[in-house]
This record gives sequence, structure tokens and C-alpha cells, in this order.
Amino acid sequence: AWDRDTVLGIIDALKHKPGALMPILHGIQDSIGYVPPDSVPLMAEALNLSRAEVHGTITFYHHFRTTPPGRHKLEICRAEACQAMGANRLVAHARKTLGVDFHETTADGAISLEAVYCLGNCACSPAVMVDGELLGSVSQESFDELVGTLRS
Ligand code: FES
Repeated sequence: AWDRDTVLGIIDALKHKPGALMPILHGIQDSIGYVPPDSVPLMAEALNLSRAEVHGTITFYHHFRTTPPGRHKLEICRAEACQAMGANRLVAHARKTLGVDFHETTADGAISLEAVYCLGNCACSPAVMVDGELLGSVSQESFDELVGTLRS
């Protein structure tokens, strides 16, 4: 469960600024790793917005996540050069084997799957970044190995 006092503290500290919703959302995500859906009413009330407006902002900006991040961040490049080298198949494989879509976290809390658009590693596509470490020429087999390591 997320810490309600932390969230209320962030809202209180920022709610009087113009355009306070964005700084509040960033503040919450920076502090606890995601924006809990249950925190929407707290923001709506403090800012005199409807819940739908707050929710709409969260979903519009892909940066915000509404589920806790996993222990590891696994980003797959979906830009052109990597697509040409089979990134779409790798993505399909990742979705299936991890049982999640992009911006979601595996049930065991180990891995959050994210999309990125060019990691500057096009010569070694398909490219993947794991917790900030760049990997190239990732096959389905090496992907499975990687996932095994991350889960162990
Ligand atoms: Fe994937 Fe450049 S397109 S690293």
C-alpha cells in the first residue's frame, strides 16, 4: 500500500502553484514510484478538479505509471531500425512470456516492461536496455536468459 501521508504532503506543498497538477503528479511518482489510482480523489479535491480531469492527465502523459514499478526496468526499442531487425517479434515474445503489456509490471514484481524509441544502438538492433545497461542483437533466447537472471 502507498503512503497516504507522503502523497498528502506533496499535494499540500504544491497545490497553490499555477498548473499544480503536473508538479504534483511528478512529485508523487518521483517519491513513491507511481501514481496510485486511489490518490486521484485526493488531488481532485485539493485542486478543485474533477476526478476525470485528473485521470485524463495521468493517462495522457505516458511518463506516469499507475502501478508500482518492478525491481527491474526492461526497455525494448520500438523504433525503425530495430523493427527492421525483428523487434516486433521480440516485443510479441516479451508480452507473451512476461504476461504484461508495455508500462506494466510482472505479477512477481520483478520486471516492468517499457517501450523506448531508439537507444542509439541501431547497429546492434534489436536493442534493449535493462536498468540503464544497453544490450544489442537481442534474440528471443537471449531475452529469456536475461529475464531468468532478472527474476533470480
Ligand atoms: Fe533501436 Fe536505434 S532504432 S536503437
